[in-house]
Amino acid sequence: MKLFVLLPVLFALIVDALPPPDTLSTNALFYNTTWDGIIFGDFTAQANTQRFNGSLAIQGNFTASGLTVNNRHRTINCTGSIEYGLSVGGQIQAQNTVVNGAVNVSNLTSGITFTDQKCSNHTTSKHVDFNQLYAAATDLSYYLASQRPNVVIRDGGFLSDGQFDADSNQEFYIFTFNKCQKKGMCVIPDYLYSSPEHIFFGTNWTGPWNTGYPIDKRIIFNIPILTNSTFTMSTNNPAAGLEQADIVYNLYPVNSTGAYDPQGHFVWFRNTTSFIGSHVLAPKASIIENNKGGFTGQLIAAKYLSIDTVYLDDSHAV
Ligand SMILES: *[C@@H]1O[C@H](CO)[C@@H](O)[C@H](O)[C@H]1NC(C)=O
Ligand SMILES: *[C@@H]1O[C@H](CO)[C@@H](O)[C@H](O)[C@H]1NC(C)=O
Ligand SMILES: *[C@@H]1O[C@H](CO)[C@@H](O)[C@H](O)[C@H]1NC(C)=O
Ligand SMILES: *[C@@H]1O[C@H](CO)[C@@H](O)[C@H](O)[C@H]1NC(C)=O
Ligand SMILES: *[C@@H]1O[C@H](CO)[C@@H](O)[C@H](O)[C@H]1NC(C)=O
Ligand SMILES: *[C@@H]1O[C@H](CO)[C@@H](O)[C@H](O)[C@H]1NC(C)=O
Ligand SMILES: *[C@@H]1O[C@H](CO)[C@@H](O)[C@H](O)[C@H]1NC(C)=O
Ligand SMILES: *[C@@H]1O[C@H](CO)[C@@H](O)[C@H](O)[C@H]1NC(C)=O
Ligand SMILES: *[C@@H]1O[C@H](CO)[C@@H](O)[C@H](O)[C@H]1NC(C)=O
Ligand SMILES: *[C@@H]1O[C@H](CO)[C@@H](O)[C@H](O)[C@H]1NC(C)=O
Ligand SMILES: *[C@@H]1O[C@H](CO)[C@@H](O)[C@H](O)[C@H]1NC(C)=O
Repeated sequence: MKLFVLLPVLFALIVDALPPPDTLSTNALFYNTTWDGIIFGDFTAQANTQRFNGSLAIQGNFTASGLTVNNRHRTINCTGSIEYGLSVGGQIQAQNTVVNGAVNVSNLTSGITFTDQKCSNHTTSKHVDFNQLYAAATDLSYYLASQRPNVVIRDGGFLSDGQFDADSNQEFYIFTFNKCQKKGMCVIPDYLYSSPEHIFFGTNWTGPWNTGYPIDKRIIFNIPILTNSTFTMSTNNPAAGLEQADIVYNLYPVNSTGAYDPQGHFVWFRNTTSFIGSHVLAPKASIIENNKGGFTGQLIAAKYLSIDTVYLDDSHAV
């Protein structure tokens, strides 16, 4: 891809010499897993918010009302090899909740029914190693966060090359959004940051206006979020123009100079009206979903809440 040549500013490479935790094409988190959703804390689906349709591994408590877990896989068959729909490490508080597939929960006295009753015979046999998954997710997130951006969305939604000389052999297209708080002192040069203005905070974003996205390689959307802040993604369809693409949305906490903050945490309010597909890697994020659209691919997060109203107040804080 050769879109636009930038000012020939030279600077030292900032990319850490980190070994990849696993190559992304074979990464067990994304491509070799039973679970569409992995949540390291509590999962809460308020009444009548069917926003996530995949299988779920929840390390914390599971609270749901009127939810079908693993709705994506309606023809689960527990006669032959067992297929799992839900695993919960904490307590369950469920009403009118249906699970497609077998479950691994400590306490099944609750309001869960099975589409295939044969699945109820397999209630405590699939161990999920949440600590191992968390380590893998944070390692991968940190690794991707340390990669140098090579494509940039400019103010106004203009797509351009991120690098002056294209001798990069990076295996992904990498965008890094949200210039850090202390502009001019950020861990990467300001001009390599993509503008979130139209794609995440706009209204009717339809993709970059000058050209389509390059989609012949996997796309990494690095989205650093200041620790303890709330990132409200409010564009109707941030994924416009990316329908055919394989994307990793990597959301991670940073400090005011944009450096990855291993202790950090933040809230991501998905207030879009359309779907976000592919892979969402946000092991430090408390995700809040409005009641439109949703995540249609894989979702890795610290905490999950789907709300039946767009009203959001401080009670949902970190
Ligand atoms: C994928 O799963 C298979 C079977 O459980 C396992 O043998 C293999 O090592 C896994 N691959 C990765 C990349 O984790
Ligand atoms: C899970 O629920 C139990 C019982 O209601 C409660 O004591 C515990 O604090 C909850 N855990 C979390 C992480 O919210
Ligand atoms: C379920 O799996 C068993 C064993 O593999 C098979 O005999 C049966 O036909 C399957 N049932 C359905 C409805 O697919
Ligand atoms: C099982 O769930 C019931 C109802 O929610 C609760 O009263 C009970 O304490 C739970 N038992 C255990 C061992 O967690
Ligand atoms: C559970 O397994 C037992 C023994 O294999 C079988 O008799 C029973 O019908 C099964 N129950 C369901 C709901 O499939
Ligand atoms: C799942 O099953 C295994 C084996 O029975 C058990 O050790 C584990 O605690 C269960 N729960 C989870 C959430 O993995
Ligand atoms: C966005 O699109 C909707 C539906 O097409 C339209 O009603 C609305 O006016 C548009 N908003 C802006 C700011 O263009
Ligand atoms: C973030 O909030 C937590 C809890 O209030 C606090 O302990 C921590 O110091 C805060 N971190 C930063 C970087 O502000
Ligand atoms: C941000 O974190 C980096 C790496 O830990 C550190 O070097 C830098 O001083 C921090 N910046 C601020 C403003 O705290
Ligand atoms: C979320 O979106 C709704 C509908 O567009 C809007 O009314 C509301 O103000 C938004 N909430 C936030 C916190 O941006
Ligand atoms: C979940 O499934 C329902 C019913 O098929 C569908 O209407 C909804 O769009 C799906 N949502 C997501 C986020 O996939």
